Amino acid sequence: MTDAIRPPQIRVAVIPVAGKGTRWNPITRSVAKELLPVWRRTSASYAFEEAIAAGIEEVIFVVSPDKHGVFEHFLRFDASDLGARYQGESPRHLHERVKVRACIQEEARGLGHAILCAENDVANRPFAVLLPDEVLMENGLSRIIGITPSVLLMEVPYAQRSHYGIVAGHEHHGRVTITDLVEKPDPALAPSGLAVTGRYTFNPDIFDYLRTQEPGHHGEIQLTDAMRRLTADHPISGVIYRGTRHDVGQPMGLLTASLDFALKDPEYRDQVRKEVEALLHTDAR
Ligand code: UTP
Repeated sequence: MTDAIRPPQIRVAVIPVAGKGTRWNPITRSVAKELLPVWRRTSASYAFEEAIAAGIEEVIFVVSPDKHGVFEHFLRFDASDLGARYQGESPRHLHERVKVRACIQEEARGLGHAILCAENDVANRPFAVLLPDEVLMENGLSRIIGITPSVLLMEVPYAQRSHYGIVAGHEHHGRVTITDLVEKPDPALAPSGLAVTGRYTFNPDIFDYLRTQEPGHHGEIQLTDAMRRLTADHPISGVIYRGTRHDVGQPMGLLTASLDFALKDPEYRDQVRKEVEALLHTDAR
């Protein structure tokens, strides 16, 4: 492979955590939803760890002025635990390798606007975006990290097509060349059953599209709208993820994610199973 066509190495990831979290009201009036626990960790730790395990060396959190606690939490990340679980790296090496920084989104004006707030810190490099509301049980970012621009896709049931951004494109061996994106279509009019998940890679040119993006749904600057314009100029690649995904941006998803991790935790699995069976038994009476 020549240098000219070698994919750019992505070393920087943006994790936006400045949203309002209205689906978690009233809790989110005092606690950031990203700090709610999913089993034994904070919900946003999973995206952070996924990024590090995919080779990311710099994580930029986009925070709202009142959510500095989320950034502080990751500033002190537990390298000993992460090193043992993901990398086989020494904690010292991991702390030296991974930089954590924050930039502020003054007002929640949409996901696209949140990403735009990280422009200076991304500093003209290709970068990844991970939405911490989505917890993936297998590393999704590592599947797309060598391809820019790209997005991780997943197959969704027919009736749920209206809940997601759905792509149009041509599939070849699990890789999709995306030609268009439709936000929350009527299932009968959806161009496919492939939905966009919260894992992306971009070249810095996405900022040109975000800067000029008109507000869309809810009067917010939507990342999907900017990506739609990008696809008209350059193809975006999609890679299909077939693992489990939990939407921890809402209560049911957080509960099932916690249970999924708990049932996979060798230390607690048997106890959790017994407790759940006992609860189900009581409920059935
Ligand atoms: P969501 O669409 O889940 O929005 O954002 P939200 O505001 O957090 O949650 P609800 O719908 O009101 O319950 C997806 C990701 O983008 C971030 C969120 O923090 C979340 O991680 N985001 C969204 C921002 O950082 N800024 C925004 O203006 C909007």
